Amino acid sequence: MGRKECGALAIMKIMFLCNIIAMLDLFPTVVSLIMVDEKQSSFQTYIIYVEKPEDSVTLGSEYLSNYYESFVPLTKAGLNEQPRMVHSYRNVVSGFAARLTPDEAKAMEEKDGVLSVRSQRILPLHTTHTPSFLRLHRGFGVWKESNFGKGVIIGVLDSGIWPDHPSFSDEGMPSPPAKWKGKCEFIGTTCNNKIIGARNFQHSVEEVEASLPVDEIGHGTHTASTAAGNFVEDANLLGNANGTAVGMAPYAHLAIYKVCSDIGCGESDILAAFDVAVEDGVDVISVSLGGGYTSFYEDPIALGAFTAMQLGILVICSAGNGGPFRYSISNMAPWILTVGASTIDRSIKAVVRLGNGEELDGECLFQPKSFNSTLIPLVYANGKTASAYCDPGTLKAANVKGKIVLCEIGITSEGKEGEVVRNASGAAMILMNQERDVFSTIAEAHVLPASQVSYAAGLKIKSYINSTSEPMATILFKGTVIGESSAPAVASFSSRGPCAESPGILKPDIIGPGVSILAAWPFPLADKPRSKSTFNMLSGTSMSCPHASGIAALLKSTHPDWSPAAIKSAMMTSADELNLEGKPIFDEKLIPADIFALDAGHVNPSRANDPGLVYDVKTRDYISYLCGLNYTDRQLGIILQRKFTCLKVNNFSDSELNYPSFSVVLSSSSRTFTRQVTNVGVANSTYALEVVAPDGAVVSVRPNNLTFTELNQTAKYSVTFSPLSGGIGRNGSELTFGQGYLKWVSDKHIVRSPIAVVFSA
Ligand SMILES: *[C@@H]1O[C@H](CO)[C@@H](O)[C@H](O)[C@H]1NC(C)=O
Ligand SMILES: *[C@@H]1O[C@H](CO)[C@@H](O)[C@H](O)[C@H]1NC(C)=O
Ligand SMILES: *[C@@H]1O[C@H](CO)[C@@H](O)[C@H](O)[C@H]1NC(C)=O
Ligand SMILES: *[C@@H]1O[C@H](CO)[C@@H](O)[C@H](O)[C@H]1NC(C)=O
Ligand SMILES: *[C@@H]1O[C@H](CO)[C@@H](O)[C@H](O)[C@H]1NC(C)=O
Ligand SMILES: *[C@@H]1O[C@H](CO)[C@@H](O)[C@H](O)[C@H]1NC(C)=O
Ligand SMILES: *[C@@H]1O[C@H](CO)[C@@H](O)[C@H](O)[C@H]1NC(C)=O
Ligand SMILES: *[C@@H]1O[C@H](CO)[C@@H](O)[C@H](O)[C@H]1NC(C)=O
Ligand SMILES: *[C@@H]1O[C@H](CO)[C@@H](O)[C@H](O)[C@H]1NC(C)=O
Ligand SMILES: *[C@@H]1O[C@H](CO)[C@@H](O)[C@H](O)[C@H]1NC(C)=O
Repeated sequence: MGRKECGALAIMKIMFLCNIIAMLDLFPTVVSLIMVDEKQSSFQTYIIYVEKPEDSVTLGSEYLSNYYESFVPLTKAGLNEQPRMVHSYRNVVSGFAARLTPDEAKAMEEKDGVLSVRSQRILPLHTTHTPSFLRLHRGFGVWKESNFGKGVIIGVLDSGIWPDHPSFSDEGMPSPPAKWKGKCEFIGTTCNNKIIGARNFQHSVEEVEASLPVDEIGHGTHTASTAAGNFVEDANLLGNANGTAVGMAPYAHLAIYKVCSDIGCGESDILAAFDVAVEDGVDVISVSLGGGYTSFYEDPIALGAFTAMQLGILVICSAGNGGPFRYSISNMAPWILTVGASTIDRSIKAVVRLGNGEELDGECLFQPKSFNSTLIPLVYANGKTASAYCDPGTLKAANVKGKIVLCEIGITSEGKEGEVVRNASGAAMILMNQERDVFSTIAEAHVLPASQVSYAAGLKIKSYINSTSEPMATILFKGTVIGESSAPAVASFSSRGPCAESPGILKPDIIGPGVSILAAWPFPLADKPRSKSTFNMLSGTSMSCPHASGIAALLKSTHPDWSPAAIKSAMMTSADELNLEGKPIFDEKLIPADIFALDAGHVNPSRANDPGLVYDVKTRDYISYLCGLNYTDRQLGIILQRKFTCLKVNNFSDSELNYPSFSVVLSSSSRTFTRQVTNVGVANSTYALEVVAPDGAVVSVRPNNLTFTELNQTAKYSVTFSPLSGGIGRNGSELTFGQGYLKWVSDKHIVRSPIAVVFSA
């Protein structure tokens, strides 16, 4: 198993050896939805949406199951005689999942009452230090005010959990709230006041019947502990990043819904988990997985999240690891909080020193004390040959024995460079990132003294090699270094907008810590030297999502009456736009990140707790929004679970949704939108307007001040976007856009909305 399979099979089978940055190569092919080769070749799991029978509510779930059964063939499926029915849904959609042959599926489509039949896809799975980086302190602020998230329940849809990990101790925690209705399905272990529920919904992918909710790959343990892990002292990985590990909401409860294995996550299982979670009584749902672009009525996460939203539950999802390319965003429904990934101010430094005295920063988790850092000969197989990538079988001991070897990460790289160099008796390795990752690096545990350097640093090393007949180099291990002032920066892999399904919604919504995040891990990293650690360091939007989920749980605790849209708005309008040194947040190129990478900015929990104003959205607004997407009655029926016909009155353009950010497609004429804010700050308050218009557009706002005299009072304003002399216009295939923002500023609060204008010919 190497880097290559990384993307498809959940990061974790190969643990952190797998380079997330490298996995992005395969994003377009691997992440785009692999059909599982189910052993019983002709049978596949299909998701079938049907019209909701009248009276289904009063007739109960048994009636519903019988109704669903009436659609499926009476015979069993395949040689193993598996049951036809995989899942019966009753909350988030009207329908079921069943094992069918393609012919049976075709026949099903013709049946009365059937809205849609689709074979399921398998979606890929997409911190000691982060709390203090996010300015969460034990003694004061949002942690204290929220009681560390006490009483709030976070549902996690992932690969299960390792319940015995110290991060899931329930010390200091109350019993679950009375509303909790979930179940605990461990065998031999029981749930506690931290993990209050755990179930396995993986029935469609693995043949293993009723496997437990135990995490066998590590991803779910890592994400759950990031959201709500309890305090664990002296957490570290190979001695690095040592400190107290703790989740964002240390006293929030966890409800675990296992939907993924090392193969991926079946859509029908994801739907089943949502179906149960919304009934169990969770407050927030965290989903670190997803599958690229799909219409909302075909996307189980969007469908599950829609019902969750109606019940007051906020769903938070990873944006995907498809960056730095545009339109790579996953989980883009506006009722979801979509989270991109950024760096934190910690690096596990391994500096490369060249023979000419130049020093270049790199990272490595394995930092052997025995390596004495004297200069040794540096070798590199020039050019794009297999040995430049240190592919297996390409290095000869005669050439590399006792030397330090420069290896490049290639498109088909399998993450074995270190092993290859070690096996050929090399003394150390410099691993150079790919071009599109530019200045970014991540820390991995290599099997020999090594430093992973950025592409930019790699170029400098190459040119040094060219400049001398006897190149020399060594590595200086500096351990854990805190205070990187260019943090946070958008990670190269973090997926970017615009959002193809709905260009009027700016996505991702926010960014949060997602690079080299240390969190709980089920097993010791056995193939690594000195590894008894039960913590592991991973990177990905999978890691940034649970940070946001934990913070949302804190807000749910301090503001129990806020709707999902209000919590989302609070997190977005209060986000940071500057890095630690006060400059605009960078991307992997060390230039200010553009609006499709950064959106509202970097999550700031303390400010989110007191946002001043919020943009709220009601279910009926989302329905008008869906009508504006021109969905058919049948498609709307799947989302709304009832017959619905859009009328002119309840139909508006997607940019009109009362969203905390603006995304406007502009051609030759002006467009005007109305927004409504709700006062959740100070009863008597006045807000003044501040606008920075995007290049190529004029923005005018009416009125230019908002005055409130009461809490919960609302105020409306309208914004008109006009192109400047016809706008900038499209330039070849290059997307032409402008970015700016508008802010409502009072003496206590700043409420900021980013603005993206995309010019269309
Ligand atoms: C981690 O930090 C704690 C407390 O500061 C210390 O006692 C412990 O030895 C450290 N562990 C490592 C591996 O550095
Ligand atoms: C450093 O290590 C190398 C290889 O292990 C050894 O040859 C050399 O003598 C060492 N130098 C010092 C100053 O210890
Ligand atoms: C390195 O050598 C070990 C032991 O001989 C072998 O098992 C492993 O496959 C080799 N690794 C590579 C990448 O060649
Ligand atoms: C190094 O020299 C080789 C051969 O002259 C050339 O192809 C390559 O571009 C040079 N690389 C750098 C980084 O200067
Ligand atoms: C919906 O249809 C109307 C009228 O045909 C069109 O103006 C509008 O652009 C369409 N909206 C979308 C999102 O396709
Ligand atoms: C929604 O409004 C647009 C623009 O006014 C119109 O073209 C479209 O036909 C309407 N759709 C429905 C379903 O009424
Ligand atoms: C707000 O101001 C109004 C008028 O100035 C005053 O009557 C009211 O008591 C104030 N409300 C609060 C909560 O201070
Ligand atoms: C506030 O807005 C109103 C309406 O646009 C305007 O009449 C008034 O002058 C504004 N006040 C300030 C202080 O700008
Ligand atoms: C604001 O509205 C919420 C929800 O309607 C309500 O629970 C809360 O008490 C209200 N707050 C005030 C100060 O009126
Ligand atoms: C198109 O846009 C790119 C990037 O903004 C710019 O570098 C290039 O010069 C433009 N080309 C033309 C023909 O304007």
